[in-house]
Amino acid sequence: MSKRIPDELLEQIQKNADIVEVIGEYVQLRKQGRNYFGLCPFHGENTPSFSVSADKQIFHCFGCGAGGNVFSFLRQMEGYSFIEAVSHVADKYHIDLPDHVANAQISSSHQEDTADHKMIEAHELLKKFYHHLLVNTKEGQNALDYLRARGFTDETIAKFEIGYALDSWDFVTKFLEKRGFDPAMMEKAGLLIQRENGTGFFDRFRDRVMFPIHDHHGTVVAFSGRSLGDQQPKYMNSPETPLFHKSKLLYHFHDARMHIRKRERAVLFEGFADVISAVTSGVGESVATMGTSLTEEHVKLLRRNVEEIILCYDSDTAGYEATMKASDLLGKRGCKVRVAMIPDGLDPDDYIRKYGGEKFRNDIIDASVTLMTFKMNFFRRGKNLSDEGDRLSYMKQVLREISRLNGSLEQEIYMKQLAGEFSISLDSLKEQLELFEKQQRQEAKSTQEESGLEKRRAHLSTQVRRKRLRPAYENAERMLLAHMLKSDDVIRKVLDRVGIEFNIDSHRALATYIYALYEEGKEPTPQHLMNRIEDDVINQLLTDIFMIQVGDELSEAELSDYVKKVLNHRNLSMIKEKELERAEAERQKDFFKAATLAKEIIQLNRSLK
Ligand code: UTP
Ligand code: MN
Repeated sequence: MSKRIPDELLEQIQKNADIVEVIGEYVQLRKQGRNYFGLCPFHGENTPSFSVSADKQIFHCFGCGAGGNVFSFLRQMEGYSFIEAVSHVADKYHIDLPDHVANAQISSSHQEDTADHKMIEAHELLKKFYHHLLVNTKEGQNALDYLRARGFTDETIAKFEIGYALDSWDFVTKFLEKRGFDPAMMEKAGLLIQRENGTGFFDRFRDRVMFPIHDHHGTVVAFSGRSLGDQQPKYMNSPETPLFHKSKLLYHFHDARMHIRKRERAVLFEGFADVISAVTSGVGESVATMGTSLTEEHVKLLRRNVEEIILCYDSDTAGYEATMKASDLLGKRGCKVRVAMIPDGLDPDDYIRKYGGEKFRNDIIDASVTLMTFKMNFFRRGKNLSDEGDRLSYMKQVLREISRLNGSLEQEIYMKQLAGEFSISLDSLKEQLELFEKQQRQEAKSTQEESGLEKRRAHLSTQVRRKRLRPAYENAERMLLAHMLKSDDVIRKVLDRVGIEFNIDSHRALATYIYALYEEGKEPTPQHLMNRIEDDVINQLLTDIFMIQVGDELSEAELSDYVKKVLNHRNLSMIKEKELERAEAERQKDFFKAATLAKEIIQLNRSLK
């Protein structure tokens, strides 16, 4: 496949590309020494073991072993084909690809891809059409008035590409059909609905203000339509489709990502109307779930990009409860959670309309509180703290939360705050706290026995894998491969003396790739190799080997020592086996068999180098 792109062109693209920048769009990276570190996007983890080397232009995860160059990263991260990955990078760095490569990218796509492609095309087309109806036509006037009354400016309407779906049962159905879209496919895309008697289709969205929903690359993959009056449902969303996965998608993430990185925080809302208001108020790092509660997948996506999350949910009971649940999930994945609290039972969008964007930024977002402070507020709600019983139940709730904090300094701060609040002695509070902590430990123990076991086991196995001592012949093979990546001279010698007699299959495969490039007269650099090797396991091995620190020179003595270990391994293990067999034969007094084995052992010993 890679043969379609000339090596010189690949090299040019790689020279211009910066792997740190490309991966930096997906993973928050911090410089540490020569390399950059972050949380591995390919396996769940809370401490960074994913490294990116700017010098070598490769990435490597010490936890799960994932690795490769900039193209392999995009293949694994986005599911791109090699050519798709190459053209993505070329595009980003403004390098033109020859036509035959660009075309190959299209013709190589599967049928599934073309279906996706068609669905996307329909969304893009409808987005433009809905927008046109809203801003330019008499039919859209009502919807435009509604939006203006809500405070949407022309600028906001343009930026978020808001539109209007006509009050018609079949306008979109006909519109799409006329343009050659298959209605059954459009039904799968969530744009049409099949009639119950199966005789055709009708429009899903009718007489609604239309909000396009973009995936994380900025492609429109769904819509949400708000009714103009109080028709139910208030918001009609696209259903789950091959393009639209509510449990993964965050509204506005494609645009927010850059701001999230820059400001090192993300603000999470419940409603996408809130996001639109917040963004127009200058809070570009705003995102929202799409009418579902926050999932593990959302959290992983956020955590890969940022540590601090500000929750800005509605200030009603449902909003408080959602805040508690979301903060738990975020905390477990290592996010630092703060809460932006909105007064008076308003939602963020109402607040902005009432008090303006500047006040929202200063008094709500920048004045966000710690999770503990939020919880204290939450527990205080509906209680009369001058009442003895209410006060006690409040203190209990807060103490339980304090006992869940892991930092003792943090615990101390809130204990003092609580003690001060009710002028009780810190000592009696501490006594209570100890009681709670004991309970906590018991609870934790039983849940750990259920769910933690698997995690701990997985953790252990990566640790074991990392620290595992390799047998001498395996190390010798790795050292030979590492030196081969540095010097043509070594390749020639290893080709001569070892050939493909590597004992480990993946080592043999990698060596074969190296020999092939060498024999074509091309320099077998790791970068060239990564572009050739399509097997992820071999690619991982390659980055792993590439990370081994070896000197520039390989002495003849060292080389022949490695070669010997590799070539002798099979014979040595055969000798060992035969010696055991011979001992057994002697014990059974089968002297003929023992003698034959002895002869074989001598021969094997002779063939050792
Ligand atoms: P809200 O009911 O809080 O909506 O729902 P809102 O953002 O305040 O909207 P306005 O101001 O009344 O227009 C929050 C989110 O829940 C989902 C939507 O994703 C919405 O953004 N939702 C709500 C639905 O999916 N369907 C509904 O009928 C209502
Ligand atoms: Mn609202």
